[in-house]
Amino acid sequence: MKQKSAEYYISEIKRMKAEKNAIILAHYYQTGDIQDIADFVGDSLALSQKAAANDADIIVFAGVKFMAETAKILAPEKKVLLPDLNAGCSLADSCRAVDFEKFIKDNPGRTIITYVNTTAEIKALSDISCTSSNAVQIVESLPVNEKILFAPDRNLGNYVLNETGRDIVIWNGTCHVHEEFSLEAILRLKKENPGAKIIVHPECELPVRMVADFIGSTSALLHFTKTDKADCYIVATEAGIIHQMKKYNPGKKYIPAPGIDSTCGCSECSFMKLVTIEKIYNCLRDENPEILVDMNILVKAQRPIKRMIEISDKLGL
Ligand code: 13P
Ligand code: SF4
Repeated sequence: MKQKSAEYYISEIKRMKAEKNAIILAHYYQTGDIQDIADFVGDSLALSQKAAANDADIIVFAGVKFMAETAKILAPEKKVLLPDLNAGCSLADSCRAVDFEKFIKDNPGRTIITYVNTTAEIKALSDISCTSSNAVQIVESLPVNEKILFAPDRNLGNYVLNETGRDIVIWNGTCHVHEEFSLEAILRLKKENPGAKIIVHPECELPVRMVADFIGSTSALLHFTKTDKADCYIVATEAGIIHQMKKYNPGKKYIPAPGIDSTCGCSECSFMKLVTIEKIYNCLRDENPEILVDMNILVKAQRPIKRMIEISDKLGL
């Protein structure tokens, strides 16, 4: 079938959204054209908050599967569509429910905090969810002596442990984008651009976090570049966020941090980039692929996510 123009897809998406009372939620790691047609663009926390509170009948999730599942868990009465079912997450894949159950058994008596970057099954085994925007605050909201089990991202877990000094055992998972940034390449870029600030997502490895001028979630990095006085940044997170940074401050320079393998394009998440405007058009037209979560798991998974949202709302996050 002949491919239509981007203008055609965009105008049809707009028409179908109105006709079907649908909204598009997009993560900052989506391509710029998708961010620009979305009704709401945000990080994982903001997207969960938006999924929990909107009047749409259909949510099209321009992101990855765990995000669409989270939306379905929070709004089971809505139809949640994911434009490409292969849009998974290497971090979520690193934590399978059978192995996680064993990990919990091996570390009894701990409050289980899991990153939203997990499957619905892992959420169903958890006490509280978190995102990189609120992980430190979620841990600090618990009594000082409470023992914690954190999964699946070992870098975010270590970052939270260092920030809070709490007793935390950590699952050994990583994100294929954030663990790949090259310290040497970042330092070389810093030498070439001495005025640049290095801004880093907490999913990055410790050596990269150690040279950071600022560490934060995607939205915290965006906020930092909006308010900070520097005019150049080396950005150690998925490069999609640079679209929003440029929109707010087009006069500044943003350099994506390179990966260890300079040929791999590692600063882009291959799963996030599976979503395209054409696939959004197709899925809105066909109302498929739809995300469905087993009701038994959905009910159990609601508790930790709702707890996270309650704590975050209370703290104004
Ligand atoms: P945040 O949206 O919490 O910054 O997380 C980054 C990420 O890796 C999402 O997949
Ligand atoms: Fe998963 Fe990493 Fe991609 Fe985020 S950037 S969806 S954590 S693989």
